[in-house]
Amino acid sequence: PAEPDLAGRHVVISAGGTREPLDPVRYLGNRSSGKQGYALARTAVARGARVTLVEANTGLPDPAGADVLRAGTAVQLREAVLKAAGDADVVVMAAAVADFRPAAYATGKIKKKDGQEPAPVALVRNPDILAEVAGERARPGQLVVGFAAETDDVLANGRAKLRRKGCDLLVVNEVGERKTFGSEENEAVVLGADGSETPVPYGPKEALADVVWDLVTARLG
Ligand code: PMT
Repeated sequence: PAEPDLAGRHVVISAGGTREPLDPVRYLGNRSSGKQGYALARTAVARGARVTLVEANTGLPDPAGADVLRAGTAVQLREAVLKAAGDADVVVMAAAVADFRPAAYATGKIKKKDGQEPAPVALVRNPDILAEVAGERARPGQLVVGFAAETDDVLANGRAKLRRKGCDLLVVNEVGERKTFGSEENEAVVLGADGSETPVPYGPKEALADVVWDLVTARLG
C-alpha cells in the first residue's frame, strides 16, 4: 500500500474533455478520455487524500473513494472547479478544456440547404480556468498543477505555458490522434515554476500520477 502522505489534504482534479454545443445534436470537442485524470484521482485516494474529481464527458466508472462532480462545458467545469477549490490544498487541471465555444447555440438542429455553402461557425473565447485558479489562490499555499497537451516544440511551448498560466507545476505531454489520448500510458516532463524539470519515462498513467504527487508533497511541506 502507498504511504498516506496526502492524508488530511483535499485535492481537486479535473478530467476528461469539455464539449461545446452548436445545436442539440452537435458539439466541438476533443479526444481526452479522462484516463490520466482518473489515474491521478485513484493514486491520490491511495495516498490518503480527500479527492474531488470534476469530470467532463468521460463515461468512466467513478473511482472508489472520490467525490465526483460532472460538467459538460468549459463554463460548467469552471464553476465546479472554482467551488471545489475553495478549501483545496491542491488543484490539478488534467481536463482538456476547449479554448473556444460557438458564439451562438441553435435551439433547433442546423439544417443544410440545397445549393448553399455552409455558414462559418463563429467562436468566442472560453474562460481560462487554470490561469484563474493559479492567479487567485483560494487558500494561502494552495498548489496549482496544470497539464500542457502539445504536438510540436513540446518543451518550449510547455515552458512558455507555465509562465503564462502562473501554476506551480506543469505536466508537459505530447499528444496526437493516436498518442496519449485514450491510451493507458503516458510520457511527460514535469516543469516546476522553480526551474525544476522532472522527466517521466513512458509507462502507465498511474506512474506519472505518482510522480506528480511526489512533487506536490515535497512542495506542500
Ligand atoms: O484524458 P486522456 O485520454 O488520459 O489524455 C490525457 C490528456 C492528454 C488530456 C492530459 O494528459 C492533458 O494533457 N490535459 C490537458 C489538456 C489541455 O487542455 O491542454 P492545454 O495545453 O490546451 O491547456 C493547458 C492547461 O490549461 C491544462 O491544464 C488545461 O486544463 C488548462 N485550461 C486550458 C484551457 C482553458 N480554457 N482553461 C484551462 O483551464
